[in-house]
Amino acid sequence: MTQAPQSVPYTTSNAGIPVESDEHSLTVGSNGPILLQDHYLIEKMAQFNRERVPERVVHAKGSGAYGIFEVTNDVSQFTKADLFQPGRRTEMLARFSTVAGELGSPDTWRDPRGFALKFYTQHGNYDLVGNNTPIFFVRDSQKFQDFIRSQKRHPVTGLRNNDMQWDFWTLSPESAHMVTWLMGDRGIPKTYRNMNGYSSHTYMWINGGGEKFWIKNHIKTDQGIDFLTQEQADELAGRDADVHRRDLYEAIERGDHPSWTMYVQVMPFEDAPDYRFNPFDLTKVWPHGDYPLIEVGRMTLNKNPEDYFIHIEQAAFEPSNMVPGIGPSPDKMLLGRLFSYPDTHRYRIGPNYMQLPPNRPRVDVRSYAKDGPMRYEPAHTARPYAPNSYGGPAADVQQFGEPAGWHVAGEMVREAYRLHREDDDYGQAHTMVRQVLDEAARDRLVSNVTGHLLQGVSRPVLDRALQYWRNIDKEIGDRIAQNVNGA
Ligand code: NDP
Ligand code: HEM
Repeated sequence: MTQAPQSVPYTTSNAGIPVESDEHSLTVGSNGPILLQDHYLIEKMAQFNRERVPERVVHAKGSGAYGIFEVTNDVSQFTKADLFQPGRRTEMLARFSTVAGELGSPDTWRDPRGFALKFYTQHGNYDLVGNNTPIFFVRDSQKFQDFIRSQKRHPVTGLRNNDMQWDFWTLSPESAHMVTWLMGDRGIPKTYRNMNGYSSHTYMWINGGGEKFWIKNHIKTDQGIDFLTQEQADELAGRDADVHRRDLYEAIERGDHPSWTMYVQVMPFEDAPDYRFNPFDLTKVWPHGDYPLIEVGRMTLNKNPEDYFIHIEQAAFEPSNMVPGIGPSPDKMLLGRLFSYPDTHRYRIGPNYMQLPPNRPRVDVRSYAKDGPMRYEPAHTARPYAPNSYGGPAADVQQFGEPAGWHVAGEMVREAYRLHREDDDYGQAHTMVRQVLDEAARDRLVSNVTGHLLQGVSRPVLDRALQYWRNIDKEIGDRIAQNVNGA
């Protein structure tokens, strides 16, 4: 039998009891049957069988790290949020991810990247759960599940299927701006360190005087934007599927701490109804010329998690975590997300997920929640109901009683957003193709789309896809058609 070297501590069971062997089961004779009283063996097998929690239904493959957010500019005229006050430094957690792939999928598949931030503020957790894109494929929560199913695996073959993707996209023309973005250079970042993050949604900010503003967050990489070509990405997918996870971990380990500068675009509250685009439509940006970027602060990632599963796999981000000074907007995607995330966390990691290390607020929690599976923090009060006359917490209506809301009135309907002057599905995509991309980037866009369409997209979906690109930009559409039809 192997003897433990003197220098290492002895193994115990989960109950802390010294175990008799790391190697051998308890049997009747050396070749005999295994005995049920080998509690340690049974504990090992049972624990192993329960090691996994379900992977996230989207954004399953990811990486993350802890860091610090420092305010570098005074934006207190726009928000009273504690973490954005001058001089404030707030500890935080970031998780970056791909969207459609599973837990073991390659980091370099063409896909948007998740950009999820959790700030441990004086007023509890603030989660800014964005992507590396300022826009999205659809503008109503009702279409999110259908969109995701079209990007995931085919139910019969179990394979990813480009025909499903283009079928959905071409039947949902509001996707054009995001698909153009995805098929361009930023659709495959070189590393997580070389991409921006965006709130994508419009949020509300409220200042100390109760004045309200609409804002969008832009979190720009200080490492510079960089990307992989399709060929580089394909090669890396085979050679090092975890290349982005490795890059982030190794950079932080060697002290090369990546940082991002956060900016906001601020729209006066009363501009929204008459702005040329619907400012709450997630398929649109606010042009910088209309609402310039205002610097807010810098986030630096400086600490790798000590245990990947505990801190990253069990991290639970939720757009519903907003702190005083920050509120939602009438974006129909955002409002759906406010329900979806806490719901999936309760299913995926259990109803007491807020007690887990990455999710635990760094302030006293004085809610009236109690009990439930895996709860280990005691209920805050021996009188678990409000109001009570035994000193239980009471909402501070004076300080926090004003909801971050807006005026609504109307019939209940199922309708698209009311159109603003310049709202359409293709205009901003066209601006990107013509005014943002240079000739070389346009060539890569044509090549990327052609390659994608030639992998299993059948007619009539293919014809619709060619028309979709002509709607975005006639010349680009014609070039793609020439390539596809000539292939
Ligand atoms: P600007 O010229 O002020 O901004 C263009 C922005 O495009 C840049 O600031 C950069 O965003 C982004 N960009 C550069 N290269 C790429 C690329 N290959 N793929 C995707 N985005 C890229 O013009 P406007 O603000 O008037 O916007 C014009 C168009 O630019 C929009 O229709 C939209 O398609 C795109 N865009 C606009 C953004 C915005 O918030 N206004 C943000 C991103 C894209 P960044 O500085 O964030 O890196
Ligand atoms: C993850 C739902 C739109 C960014 C998730 C998860 C769900 C979900 C269920 C898994 C969460 C988990 O298991 O931890 C939805 C719904 C949407 C929507 C219903 C629309 C109605 C968006 C948009 C963005 C976004 C528009 C970006 C602006 C993310 C990110 C994650 C995520 C970054 C990963 C969070 C992490 O790192 O743990 N989403 N999503 N989602 N979503 Fe969404």
